[in-house]
Amino acid sequence: SDCLGLSDAGHLTIGGADTLMLAEKYGTPLYVMDEDNIRENCRLYKKSIDKYYDGRGLVTYASKAFCCKEICRVAADEGLGLDVVSAGELYTARQADFPMEKIFFHGNNKTIEELSMALSYGVGRIVVDNLTELEILNTLARSLNRKANVFFRIKPGIDAHTHDFVRTGQIDSKFGLALETGEALAAVKEAISFENICLKGIHCHIGSQIFDIEPFEHAAQVMLGFIAQVKTETGYEIEELNLGGGFGIKYITEHDPVEYDRYMQRVAVTVDDTCKELGIRRPFIVIEPGRSIAGPAGITLYTVGAVKEIPHVRTYVSIDGGMTDNPRYALYHSEYECLVASRAGEPREKTVTIAGKCCESGDLIGEGMRIQEVKPGDVVAVLATGAYNYSMSSNYNRIPKPAIVFVKGGKDRLVVKRETLEDVIRNDL
Ligand code: LLP
Repeated sequence: SDCLGLSDAGHLTIGGADTLMLAEKYGTPLYVMDEDNIRENCRLYKKSIDKYYDGRGLVTYASKAFCCKEICRVAADEGLGLDVVSAGELYTARQADFPMEKIFFHGNNKTIEELSMALSYGVGRIVVDNLTELEILNTLARSLNRKANVFFRIKPGIDAHTHDFVRTGQIDSKFGLALETGEALAAVKEAISFENICLKGIHCHIGSQIFDIEPFEHAAQVMLGFIAQVKTETGYEIEELNLGGGFGIKYITEHDPVEYDRYMQRVAVTVDDTCKELGIRRPFIVIEPGRSIAGPAGITLYTVGAVKEIPHVRTYVSIDGGMTDNPRYALYHSEYECLVASRAGEPREKTVTIAGKCCESGDLIGEGMRIQEVKPGDVVAVLATGAYNYSMSSNYNRIPKPAIVFVKGGKDRLVVKRETLEDVIRNDL
């Protein structure tokens, strides 16, 4: 990735900082993110959306990919909105002084407490998943003498080719309202009739780590078709359309780099053509990338313990982290690249399994991974771990969570402290 380099000594660098120095200074396991890379990713999307929709669009960062106060500050500073899905993410944003009117609050089962919190914070848009939620929200908003600005989550019925666990657009999904059964239209009619609800837009998200552009174009057509149908049947004009996130990133060398500007351009052309065909005004367009903003900017540094060779079978390289800081191999068999930080420029001639320290065999970072000569005590870097690693980390086996360091122009700063053993027992009575 763009943020990685080699020092004169042949050490791996990120954002201009020596990874061995960072491992020494902060300890391992350690998440390191290149702030300039995050900002660059934000700017690419913002530039595209401004260009293709004449400034009538908004990029919101899907904070589930990686959420802490500092990234909320960075996203705000870059002029992005924010997608949150829980009281925890919303609270983080608020504590980082994120502009509340630029927040989209998602989730298929927001609690009453979460909905009240969103209303009292003045969150910009609440993305309503179902009729139960709509009714609760209307009642809550009435009691606060407010109008809630809402979106509806819609299932466009599109099957994107990605892992089953991250597909969301198809009919059999726990998320959102179906089009073909009339569920979505009925919900829209109800929303229009509610005093304390203001229906602003509709939303879809077809899945994550998607490389094809067609499913995004198709989703846009379906959603615009629904906007046209609503207009014909009720006279109501839905003015905003959120097309979700899901743009794929390059995890391994064999993946082709993705040009996000091409996605944006092709979807924008489809949006314009479809609006013309349907005779509707182009809605305000929102997208919500998460992985592609945070993922490529991050790496995780580990220290190697034992190296265990099982003759004719495989070599296990044990590290001081694992599924607690990166559960993605255990969950999805995700692929990653790794390097020995001190020999990053040398060819990767070994094939190994990187194993974590948890008490279960599935605790692996990867199998058949190419790496340089590796010995106990070496620092290993796993690449492209900026998204869905820290945010999905756990305290399994009562392992404290790693620290997070941001690097900018070669300068490092701690943004999340390493958990201590005291933190691990903090809530025990
Ligand atoms: N919007 C909605 C409504 C979403 O559900 C998601 C992701 C996004 C936006 C952001 O998608 P992205 O641009 O990051 O692909 N834990 C899985 C990924 C789950 C994605 C969940 N929703 C993983 O580690 O691959």
